[in-house]
Amino acid sequence: MKLGIFTDAHYSSQEVTCSKRYNSRSLEKIRNAYRFFEQEGCDLVVCLGDLIDKEDSHQKETDNLGEVAKIINSGSLKTVCVMGNHDAFAFTAEEFYNILGISAPEVIETEGKTLIFIDACYFKNGEHYAPGDSDWTDTFYPHTDRLKVLLEKVTGDAFIFIHQNIDPDVNSDHRLFNSDEINGILASSGKVKAVFQGHYHPGHSSSHNGIRYATFPAMCENEDAVFVEEI
Ligand SMILES: [Fe+2]
Repeated sequence: MKLGIFTDAHYSSQEVTCSKRYNSRSLEKIRNAYRFFEQEGCDLVVCLGDLIDKEDSHQKETDNLGEVAKIINSGSLKTVCVMGNHDAFAFTAEEFYNILGISAPEVIETEGKTLIFIDACYFKNGEHYAPGDSDWTDTFYPHTDRLKVLLEKVTGDAFIFIHQNIDPDVNSDHRLFNSDEINGILASSGKVKAVFQGHYHPGHSSSHNGIRYATFPAMCENEDAVFVEEI
């Protein structure tokens, strides 16, 4: 199965933020990414979050996400997208997926593989982020029991998709508060082959307990941050 992957587009009308995020250029980059994924014969496109960035008005944020929606729904490729902290700062999950015209992903079972999409837009007190209230350094996944049960039922290989980081190599301010617990669950299942993440814009690659951890570089900070992964 061939996946087309991109992350951290941070699309907005701003030309540049944080001195290196070229927000407004991301719309064209997303368009080009879909052309590339079509050419490569991808089966599925995965966006690992932070699709948009904030604007002065919610209407403008809605319009921006609508522009992205036109691109992702224009071809034949199916797209799944986990929310990032910037998406959750602007939208509720319901709004976000309604505007995008896709459903919130949780699990996809295909070709004997299980793709698990995790929403880690939670504060460590267990409350979900809400519009105007998110914190990129306070990230958590409260449903670890559900993850454990899910992995027990998996019969083939499993793959995890999440915006924020659980790779132990990545700085703790980018990592989930309970990343150690989650990594323990993934390792003891013996079924997880890879974890795909965004959030840490430089990107990183590592391996722990036989699991590959791939953190993809941010689209807003790079010219060619589009990736094809065979799983
Ligand atoms: Fe980001």
